[in-house]
Amino acid sequence: MAAPTEFKPTIVGFLCNWCCYGGADLAGVSRFQYPPHLRVIRLMCSGRVDLAFIFRAFAKGADGVFIGGCHLNDCHYNPEGNYDAMGNTLMAKRILEKLGVNPERLRLEWVSAGEGVRFAEVMNEISAKVKSLGPLGSAEGIAVAELASRMQTAVDLVPYIKLVERERLRVPVRTEDGYRKFFGSAEFDELFNELILDKLVMSRIMGFLRKKPVAAMEIPGNLDLAPSEVARHLQQLTERGLIKFESGQALVAAV
Ligand code: FES
Repeated sequence: MAAPTEFKPTIVGFLCNWCCYGGADLAGVSRFQYPPHLRVIRLMCSGRVDLAFIFRAFAKGADGVFIGGCHLNDCHYNPEGNYDAMGNTLMAKRILEKLGVNPERLRLEWVSAGEGVRFAEVMNEISAKVKSLGPLGSAEGIAVAELASRMQTAVDLVPYIKLVERERLRVPVRTEDGYRKFFGSAEFDELFNELILDKLVMSRIMGFLRKKPVAAMEIPGNLDLAPSEVARHLQQLTERGLIKFESGQALVAAV
């Protein structure tokens, strides 16, 4: 019997040019060992990593996403981009969780250009973690096409999320502790559910109905959602004139 093939994860790494990319370079020059799973994308600052980049990477088959930035207060830009990277990472983790994807597949670390050893250690840790989680999608019990569809839903919502972040989800204290406290607070949970989660679910239902009209009872099972939740959103979508029912089937209304 053929031996099962070893899972070799694909990890997309968004590395800041000024620090983590240098750390990766130093690790390579110094011949520090780490698994060859990383696909590097060099950016000028970790703050340049848009939420959409993260969801697209997962939609295109990454099993893990790594963001590497300068240590806090060492960012080369003002206002410091690595705080934005932290906000985007914490927001993306919450959204991934709601879409059925293990948030531990996404990781943010600070690595300076002089920390080649640390870069190799971080890569070893991330590779081991993603390997233990298994291939994206099959490990979560989500088919590849459905996973891509969920990620696309998140990408579509990014402009709205940015607006909400600016208007209603501002982190009050721009420190590491401030970010973690805010994203872990009951206040954030409430605002996230009210402002983002409902939109995410509605967007998923709309995306599903765009493929073909279906009976309402088929939606919860296909989208892995509670029937009561689907019923509530179908009512809202109908009231807003975004969907309609014809011959017992829900379909997207022409606008
Ligand atoms: Fe490196 Fe901003 S310049 S994180």
